[in-house]
Amino acid sequence: MIEVKGVTKRFGPKVAVDNLSFEVKNGEVLGFLGPNGAGKTTMMRIITCYMPATEGSVTVAGHDTLTESFEVRRHIGYLPESAPLYLDMDITDYLSFVAQVRGIAPSERHEKIRRIAEICGLQNVMGQDIGTLSKGFKQRVGLAQALIHDPDLLILDEPTTGLDPAQIIEMRELIKRIGREKTVILCSHILPEVSATCDRILIINEGKKVASGTPDELATATEGSVTIQAKIYGPEAQVREKIEGMEHVIGCRVVESPPGGPVTFVLKAKPNGDLGREVFKMVVENGFSLSELKAERISLEDVFLQLTTKERSAE
Ligand SMILES: Nc1ncnc2c1ncn2[C@@H]1O[C@H](COP(=O)(O)OP(=O)(O)OP(=O)(O)O)[C@@H](O)[C@H]1O
Ligand SMILES: [Mg+2]
Repeated sequence: MIEVKGVTKRFGPKVAVDNLSFEVKNGEVLGFLGPNGAGKTTMMRIITCYMPATEGSVTVAGHDTLTESFEVRRHIGYLPESAPLYLDMDITDYLSFVAQVRGIAPSERHEKIRRIAEICGLQNVMGQDIGTLSKGFKQRVGLAQALIHDPDLLILDEPTTGLDPAQIIEMRELIKRIGREKTVILCSHILPEVSATCDRILIINEGKKVASGTPDELATATEGSVTIQAKIYGPEAQVREKIEGMEHVIGCRVVESPPGGPVTFVLKAKPNGDLGREVFKMVVENGFSLSELKAERISLEDVFLQLTTKERSAE
């Protein structure tokens, strides 16, 4: 659906997007994640034909954003960072205006607006001036304007910014529902947002790709080490000594040591060998007993921080 090849965008000396390449497949919901200033909005503006890339190319549904921008725009619904709403118009008038601009025939406009109002949960406020709506409802109107022409691709730039927690949940549900039928790019700097709604996540920092994968894949990308948690019955100091003496172990800490119960250790090891098996062997050989052994998952937050701070400290 989208193919981004070697895109660079410079603003004078500032490189906002740096040789970025990625694809978005039909029907996929991609989380486009990065800290403030990473280049997310700039990349979305290039995909939506709001500005040209300095280098590289982007195609949407096979159309080039530079030479076939009219075709590209037809395929895309875009909710920018701050939605371009006319505050003194009521929702119905505003959506009719957008429908007209989008080239929807007058005979179809009424039905399209009714349908989109239903999808975005706007039925009860259609006559209200946009300026008098709460922030959450303004965002829904923004979403409605992006969807009115039934695009295959929806691009959302930080759609939940400024919403209260209840509205955030509603907005995420709405995005998930829409994502079942359409290709979506969701820009955000909030990890739980993208992991809750997206099939795949692409993390960028300072204009460059630093990682991509499913939320699960990213969570298990563990910076060259594996971590497991082991609950072991035995004298804490002795068990600890044995663990630290194991071949690939690079770290060990005690999380819990209840009287009479098993001691919970968290072990970090180099990814060679089967750590679980080695722990089991060590326990048996030393006459301890094992109560539980499980792989520890690194949270996406950790992965995100590791990836984005590593880049920065490498400067
Ligand atoms: N029109 C412009 N002129 C000059 N610099 C710009 C322009 N637009 C963006 N930039 C710079 O490019 C970099 C990337 O900005 P961009 O808005 O794409 O980041 P972002 O990832 O969307 O950040 P945020 O999470 O804060 O929205 C920033 O350093 C920004 O200052
Ligand atoms: Mg932005």
